[in-house]
Amino acid sequence: MKITIIGTGYVGLVTGACLAELGNDVFCLDLDEKKIALLNNGGIPIHEPGLEEVVARNRAAGRLRFSTDVGAAVAHGKLQFIAVGTPPDEDGSADLQYVLAAARNIGKHMTEFKVIVDKSTVPVGTAERVRAALQAELDERGVAATFSVASNPEFLKEGAAVEDFMRPDRIVIGCDSTPEGERARELMKTLYAPFNRNHERTYWMDVRSAEFTKYAANAMLATRISFMNELANLADKVGVDIEAVRHGIGSDPRIGHSFLYAGCGYGGSCFPKDVQALERTARGHGQELLILRAVEAVNDRQKLVLGGKVTARYGEDLAGRHFAVWGLAFKPNTDDMREASARVLLAELLQRGASVAVYDPVAMAEARRVLALDLAPALLARIRFAASPMDALNGADALAIVTEWKAFRSPDFEQIKARLKEPVIFDGRNLFEPADMAEAGIEYHGIGRSVLTRA
Ligand code: UDX
Repeated sequence: MKITIIGTGYVGLVTGACLAELGNDVFCLDLDEKKIALLNNGGIPIHEPGLEEVVARNRAAGRLRFSTDVGAAVAHGKLQFIAVGTPPDEDGSADLQYVLAAARNIGKHMTEFKVIVDKSTVPVGTAERVRAALQAELDERGVAATFSVASNPEFLKEGAAVEDFMRPDRIVIGCDSTPEGERARELMKTLYAPFNRNHERTYWMDVRSAEFTKYAANAMLATRISFMNELANLADKVGVDIEAVRHGIGSDPRIGHSFLYAGCGYGGSCFPKDVQALERTARGHGQELLILRAVEAVNDRQKLVLGGKVTARYGEDLAGRHFAVWGLAFKPNTDDMREASARVLLAELLQRGASVAVYDPVAMAEARRVLALDLAPALLARIRFAASPMDALNGADALAIVTEWKAFRSPDFEQIKARLKEPVIFDGRNLFEPADMAEAGIEYHGIGRSVLTRA
């Protein structure tokens, strides 16, 4: 099938590469010439396991192309996926300017029937705005071509996006019940047929419900995390081990084990933005989403928890103190620093006068970029970008762990002790067992586990 993907960001690039891998003829459009040049030279603008191989293989096979040519892109695909960014605007709503510009571009060039598929995470009602923007262009040109706008939200996790695309647990597609909508449905059915051979994974629904499903999924997941974080903070006070509680409740199939890990807060490009956007949608309709307001507030507070444990141990003034920080990305297997908890912890440690040595397996370059934006030069100067996890520890008062990279899970504790001034670990992701730490002679501060570490 001939497919056009508009936007070669995270979602567009993964979607385009994976659809080519299924044998489709994919044309990826982006207006960023530098990015297209990089992709055409075999480069990949993001860190995503497996993506480079899929892109290389399908480029070589001639099934995947990258271009800035809007006319050629619109002419190419019967299916036109819109996968451009929807960043939050000042009030937290999703900014639709790129989505609507993509719709107008399709309208400026199309001459025959097309299906426009919204892949970007967009608020309820966006498909109608896409339709209106596109139709206005057709009217202006006096072109009578018909089209349909479908919604097909993505559920890709960063760090596992290729795997998530290739082995989806569900495919959500919203189509209209018009004749054009029926054509869209048939095309989408053919496109996703390879995933539905063994059992049907597609959930068909109306366009608005599909748009909403994406927000509902992310809001539910964010809610579970904030809920556990709030309980973990209480667990620390009342002498309860949150990990025991996690097992105890997760074994109930109605609750399930996933996404119940207490930690130092969620980050990334989706949860914070989508929770806010859904709240904004509700407010626009005169409703206050009380639960989601709390989810957001709890998460903002949770990003301060590690810093709070540090000041509880060393006092408010950290001048002269030096800390090692492991993990900068908002989660493992990505170099994405958007809304990362590490940014909050680093700002606090530095503002209180400490110096830090940081290490992340892949996010070092991205960290240099975003921290230079976050921090005043005087604070930035007190960060050392270490060459390895062990290198970061040299001469530090304590180690703080912010991201649950596999590489941090079984470190050489003797080396950690030898390099730190005193053996103290603040673990924002509960990577270690308090009992093991006690045995190793390490002072250990986890999240919601202090009952196990009290002397
Ligand atoms: C998320 C959704 O999972 C995905 O389906 C959607 O399409 C986009 O948003 P992503 O942002 O890549 O994906 O990250 P995810 O793996 O969901 O983790 C988000 C954050 O929650 C991370 O900061 C992670 O550390 C944190 N988290 C996750 C917890 O603190 N506890 C948990 O139990 C799980």
